[in-house]
Amino acid sequence: MLVSPRLLYSHCYGRYAIPAVNVFTMEQVLALFASAHRAEAPILVQLTPVARNYAHPVMLQAMIQAAGHIYPDVVYAIHLDHGNEEHAIAALEQGYTSVMIDASHDPFDINIERTRLVVEKAHTHGIVVEAELGVLSGVEDDLSVEEVDAKYTNPQQAKEFVERSGCDSLAVAVGTSHGAYKFSGGQGIQFHILERIQELLPGFPLVLHGSSCVDPEVVKAINQYGGKLKPDASGVKDEELKKAIQLGICKVNIATDLRLLWTRDHREFFTSQPELIDPVVPGRKYMQSFEAFMLKRFELMGAAGQS
Ligand code: G3H
Ligand code: 13P
Ligand code: NA
Ligand code: ZN
Repeated sequence: MLVSPRLLYSHCYGRYAIPAVNVFTMEQVLALFASAHRAEAPILVQLTPVARNYAHPVMLQAMIQAAGHIYPDVVYAIHLDHGNEEHAIAALEQGYTSVMIDASHDPFDINIERTRLVVEKAHTHGIVVEAELGVLSGVEDDLSVEEVDAKYTNPQQAKEFVERSGCDSLAVAVGTSHGAYKFSGGQGIQFHILERIQELLPGFPLVLHGSSCVDPEVVKAINQYGGKLKPDASGVKDEELKKAIQLGICKVNIATDLRLLWTRDHREFFTSQPELIDPVVPGRKYMQSFEAFMLKRFELMGAAGQS
């Protein structure tokens, strides 16, 4: 059942979180729905501009709808991830229930204005808007304290941003970053910032980008099968994620973990079964790994049994 994230967030706030999973391929869509079905967990299926460009928006929409028919019990929303105005407006006509306008690299007032205009249009379609405040890049060792602070979301600004833009949820920069190399300086999630944001915006749904856990075992296996990931690959710890959920994180974005599993399963296939030329073999293995991974995430995030 296709639903609005508004409904999902009002139910989960402070108690559990909904995984927002980036999908690009048929295997990912099918495995995501299979896992949600098995866990009885709600999901946000999210599509980036790269996904839309790679698989075509019509193909993506059709795959997700088909998965919804195959698993009619699954409660899901379709979300545009890291869009601009053009993507967001296209998504309003394409069956999405939620869009993100990412103007986080713009100055504060411009970010508000760009977000506000998308909110106005989206709300006339009954679609909710996620915005982002703060810069989600990795924190490097050679930055000063002031430079580091400037990247994180300022809690007072977050409150003003939400009030002036009218956005329905806010992605906050509290120490995570995209990709397989988070926390190279070892900092982790900045809970004092998240706590302050929650105090100033009680009950308001917050979003954590860059939430992959980057399992060291998967990284090791990739490298054993010929990959070249760097040794400082690391992600969000399970305990950190649970604590962040209690502090108002309702949506947990995951892309990297599923890229890592794809890479491991395919590298392993090419290495251990070099006589085969069959996409079904690694594809099936990947869907199994994807599903098993998601089942563990649903449990950790408290989403299992909530749909
Ligand atoms: O934060 C978003 C995704 O991890 C980026 O994925 O390859 O579609 O840009 P992309
Ligand atoms: P990861 O790179 O940690 O998977 O984060 C994904 C994300 O935030 C997508 O918007
Ligand atoms: Na998003
Ligand atoms: Zn993101």
